[in-house]
Amino acid sequence: MSKEGIERHDYDVIVVGAGGAGLRAAIEASAAGAHTALICKSLLGKAHTVMAEGGIAAALGNVWKEDNWRVHFRDTMRGGKLLNNWRMAQLHAQEAPDRVLELEEWGALFDRTSDGLILQRDFGGHRYARLAHVGDRTGLEMIRILQQHAVHKGIDVYMECTLQRLLTDGGKIAGAFGYWRESGKFVLFGARAVVLATGGGGKAWKITSNSWEYTGDGIAMALDAGTDLIDMEMVQFHPTGMVWPPSVRGLLVTEGVRGDGGMLTNNEGKRFMFDYIPEFFRADTAENEREADAWYEDKKNNRRTPDLLPRDEVARAINTEVKAGRGTPHGGVYLDIASRRSPEFIKKRLPSMYQQFKQLADVDITTTAMEIGPTCHYFMGGVRVEPETAAATVPGLFAAGEVAAGMHGANRLGGNSLSDLLVFGRRAGAGAAAYASRTNARAVDDAQVEAAARSMLAPFDGEGTENPYALHAELQETMQRLVGIIRTEAELQQAIATLDVLGERVDRVTVEGNRQFNPGWHLALDLRSMITVSKACARSALMRQESRGGHTRDDYQKADPEWGKKNVVTRKRGGQLELATEPLPQIPEELRQLVLAEEKQPA
Ligand code: FUM
Repeated sequence: MSKEGIERHDYDVIVVGAGGAGLRAAIEASAAGAHTALICKSLLGKAHTVMAEGGIAAALGNVWKEDNWRVHFRDTMRGGKLLNNWRMAQLHAQEAPDRVLELEEWGALFDRTSDGLILQRDFGGHRYARLAHVGDRTGLEMIRILQQHAVHKGIDVYMECTLQRLLTDGGKIAGAFGYWRESGKFVLFGARAVVLATGGGGKAWKITSNSWEYTGDGIAMALDAGTDLIDMEMVQFHPTGMVWPPSVRGLLVTEGVRGDGGMLTNNEGKRFMFDYIPEFFRADTAENEREADAWYEDKKNNRRTPDLLPRDEVARAINTEVKAGRGTPHGGVYLDIASRRSPEFIKKRLPSMYQQFKQLADVDITTTAMEIGPTCHYFMGGVRVEPETAAATVPGLFAAGEVAAGMHGANRLGGNSLSDLLVFGRRAGAGAAAYASRTNARAVDDAQVEAAARSMLAPFDGEGTENPYALHAELQETMQRLVGIIRTEAELQQAIATLDVLGERVDRVTVEGNRQFNPGWHLALDLRSMITVSKACARSALMRQESRGGHTRDDYQKADPEWGKKNVVTRKRGGQLELATEPLPQIPEELRQLVLAEEKQPA
């Protein structure tokens, strides 16, 4: 197929993905004068951003005047177990308040304090109540505002369009190629710069908060185009997903429930999180002991409870309780807010959770404890970016939000995703527009388009024997069982071998029917991305021989200070994944001291 017959559009900047990061990037690129398009796999507004229900983390200091960017930076680095790109964490903490105030200027209706300021709630790992929120629908409100702002900027929006390949010319970005979900026809976007804001790949796991779009497309496309990935072993399991009924297993239960007083209990009625207050690092060097003490003291004296420890720690604790037979009838633990808060309070602060449990599980959370358990929620790993501009390692490619890596290190604090995607969405949009303004349009290479089209049509050849739905189920089972919260060398080896076989079988998928709205074909293509991100995850997890944040190895139970200085980098060369370790960027001494310092407790 030549590219002559293919629908084509040309832009300075295309933004792939229309969640918070994509919308914010498109707004900024357009404001900088770039001819900009926003392309989404689903409908505009249908994004994982809405799953960040509890709030946007920003040191506004409205509830605790002691809060400031330094404390937010420190919490983020500690929560990320110091694997974060320090500069990203610094920019994020410094700029998040302005991004929240900007949202308010654009019309966001945040909950208020009694004196009319933006109200902030407690979340895990944050020293102070820091999350600006709109009940338990913060992500939704954010999308509503950004969407409204974007459409008034005259940005072109293409919905239900799945991009599958980044096109390059001489190693630089030239555009992207994909198909319309409805017609199955191909579409080509010529672009001087591409911003990836495609989110993560949580749909490769069986129990997940992610919906069907989150198949790792952006990560796989970036890898194919030659960019570096980092930290792919770091996957966040949110501690509280629904466990019952089976049809909604994995659906998110916001951390806002615990932020507003909810307690975790086991089947003996015990608040088990008191047994899991961790050492910050479990290595036994003098320096790490000091860090561990600082962390523990902080928690001991804190008005907050261990129910609000960082997510990796709570998810592991729940996992342990269930394995020890102290779980609920459906394999979770209890989350109880009814014993602590009035029905009025719960319905006002957590209206979506109230409705979600009432309608989906027939549980009234104002009287009854919820059954919850960990659910795959977020990739900390992804495309390696440069902090100031969000540029990836391939010229012309930018990435922001969950698809990008570095900001959250080994574990993301709740609420830091919404602020991340505002801060780095804006930076990516500005970076892409600036790059586009100093770059000539690159030529689109016929051979790349033809190869992509041929490969995408292969499932229609009718020569294969594999069914995409069955393969997806096998993939999810494999990742859930072998690359879950707790990992071992033997299980990771088994996962890698299984993924190799699944990858070959995905090449033999056959689909029926034609290209017009054909979900089997769409899944067949999505599976390729899911296999790629799953392989990168399993192989990185095998390489990192320690436990840190979202990566827990049963056979290397401690954090190892040496591993704490390294990223695991994944690249694709000659069609093969190559893994290496590389040193983290060196944190300036004054910021390192800030991260380790103890501080005065609030009264
Ligand atoms: O629990 C939540 O509301 C999710 C927030 C987040 O992932 O940042």
